[in-house]
Amino acid sequence: MIYAANLKCNHTRKSFKEYGTKLSSALNGESVLVFPPFCALSEDKFKFTQGVQNFYPCDNGSFTGEIGADMIDEFGITTVLIGHSERRALGESDVLLKAKFDFAKSKNWDIIYCIGEDDITHMNGSTKEFLSEQLENIDLEYENLIIAYEPIWAIGTGKSASVEVISGVLEFMSSKCNAPLLYGGSVNEKNISDISQIPNCDGVLVGTASWDVENFIKLIKA
Ligand code: 13P
Repeated sequence: MIYAANLKCNHTRKSFKEYGTKLSSALNGESVLVFPPFCALSEDKFKFTQGVQNFYPCDNGSFTGEIGADMIDEFGITTVLIGHSERRALGESDVLLKAKFDFAKSKNWDIIYCIGEDDITHMNGSTKEFLSEQLENIDLEYENLIIAYEPIWAIGTGKSASVEVISGVLEFMSSKCNAPLLYGGSVNEKNISDISQIPNCDGVLVGTASWDVENFIKLIKA
């Protein structure tokens, strides 16, 4: 199982140092990825992998407010999130997402590519068509690809998608590619054991329940 923590816009340099130290001391070989905000990235040696929530597809240059590969490389980071619905909602288009994917691939980075439908698409039963379109943007054969299925209607709501819904979507995705598959959307210490038993589920991408390190440790140990 892969346990990935998307800290979103939470934690400072000081609080993340404590977070990383506590999480490291609780880990015992589990596969854990943590995505802190840029300015909280740490140079400490942890027992988990740090990744970035975002980047601009450049090494450096005149891109005000953006972070490029030079800055990411300095931390030795090789794991990136792309396509999170919260970034798509801020205006990241398929064109930009493709440019980010292609850039990250050219760097040989590990990519967690996020896809997921909104509640209207879910209710009208066209989830699979919608997800297929989102996947058209990327090279599904890329060897360092992980795909995270995160239905927008389950993110931050406290209501995870049901085991049946997740199973159906992951089975569909596994028919399209060989990449490891994660589920994200209100994963917590109570539902993790059911979710982890879903066939084709290789791990979880956790938001809210990962922000408090003790909570995240409980989730991993559950
Ligand atoms: P929540 O766990 O808060 O629903 O967030 C999921 C998510 O967006 C992870 O990327």
